[in-house]
Amino acid sequence: MTLAVQIDQFGGPEQMKLVDVDVGDPAPGEVRIRHKAIGLNFIDVYHRTGLYPLSLPARLGMEGAGIIEAVGEGVTHLKPGDRAAYASNPPGSYSEVRVMPATCVVRLPDAIDFDTAAAMMLKGLTAQYLLKRTRPVEGLQSGDFVLFHAAAGGVGLIACQWAKALGLQLIGTAGSDEKCALALANGAAHAINYRRENFVQRVRDITQGQGVKVVYDSVGKDTWDGSLDCLRPFGLMVSFGNASGPVPPFAPAILGAKGSLYVTRQTLFTHIATRERTQAMADELFEVVQSGAVKIHIAQRFALRDVAEAHRALESRQTVGSTVLTV
Ligand SMILES: NC(=O)c1ccc[n+]([C@@H]2O[C@H](COP(=O)([O-])OP(=O)(O)OC[C@H]3O[C@@H](n4cnc5c(N)ncnc54)[C@H](OP(=O)(O)O)[C@@H]3O)[C@@H](O)[C@H]2O)c1
Repeated sequence: MTLAVQIDQFGGPEQMKLVDVDVGDPAPGEVRIRHKAIGLNFIDVYHRTGLYPLSLPARLGMEGAGIIEAVGEGVTHLKPGDRAAYASNPPGSYSEVRVMPATCVVRLPDAIDFDTAAAMMLKGLTAQYLLKRTRPVEGLQSGDFVLFHAAAGGVGLIACQWAKALGLQLIGTAGSDEKCALALANGAAHAINYRRENFVQRVRDITQGQGVKVVYDSVGKDTWDGSLDCLRPFGLMVSFGNASGPVPPFAPAILGAKGSLYVTRQTLFTHIATRERTQAMADELFEVVQSGAVKIHIAQRFALRDVAEAHRALESRQTVGSTVLTV
């Protein structure tokens, strides 16, 4: 028997209970992994509250790193004893040991420790697909401005550094002056405290009235309208999260009125649907981390049994960078 976090109903952090589970052996196409570190992500909050519904009872957690203990029939890219890491469905990484599909589990380079891996797989692969694979029709050239909300968060700090490495001028928003300073220290070209400043006006000023080619918006409800107003004609609005609540329904005609804009709603799980693409994206992530171009900031650590406290900190905007759950 081994410990895992389970919810029996949707609700607040108090719904998460540590339960004893029997994990068993991997079926064909699966692996059994013993976690050394677990990543905390905002999607775990959406799962816990039921915003992204799961069948109950449900396990939580989408990101982890550890040692492969056993592999099921047909799994050839991993073997027992391998160091490995993943961002993957289904939820279940909040656990000591789990059995899971092997598709999104990759071998971890020796130079990357378990905590770093658990802190970067879901967030780093997200930054990768946003900046490299989710681009406006006119493309992105060196020196172009992009707007990235919640720039001091887990995905945000990785995106600040990666955007700089790509030659982009990332304008980051964040909820305090300290968070803005952190975004700037990590490569953002400009930072806006959107709790105190009008970010639309600031973006207009920074871009000399032109607007940005692309907005990466994970805040959702609170920033949606303003984000559209930051785009230049034919610009791309990339919605990829709902930290402040889901984006309300809108009339497509608004996109025409604001300059023939494009809108997309992206999720990492479409991008990592195949093993080949997951590996290619992970290789790029490993490369930027090993080269030092992107450093992974683990600003908070909680024991797995204190996961409720970790959720409270994330939801109340008290965290910066990545948070790791220790086992
Ligand atoms: N679609 C995808 O593929 C995908 C993948 C990964 C992550 N995401 C999304 O990307 C976002 C970042 O994920 P993360 O795990 O790295 O989290 P995070 O950025 O570390 O935490 C969320 C941040 O959102 C900001 N925020 C703004 N309004 C908020 C509100 N009302 N309540 C709570 N937070 C608010 C806060 O930063 P400030 O205080 O600076 O505003 C907060 O720190 C999340 O929305 C997540 O769902 C999407």
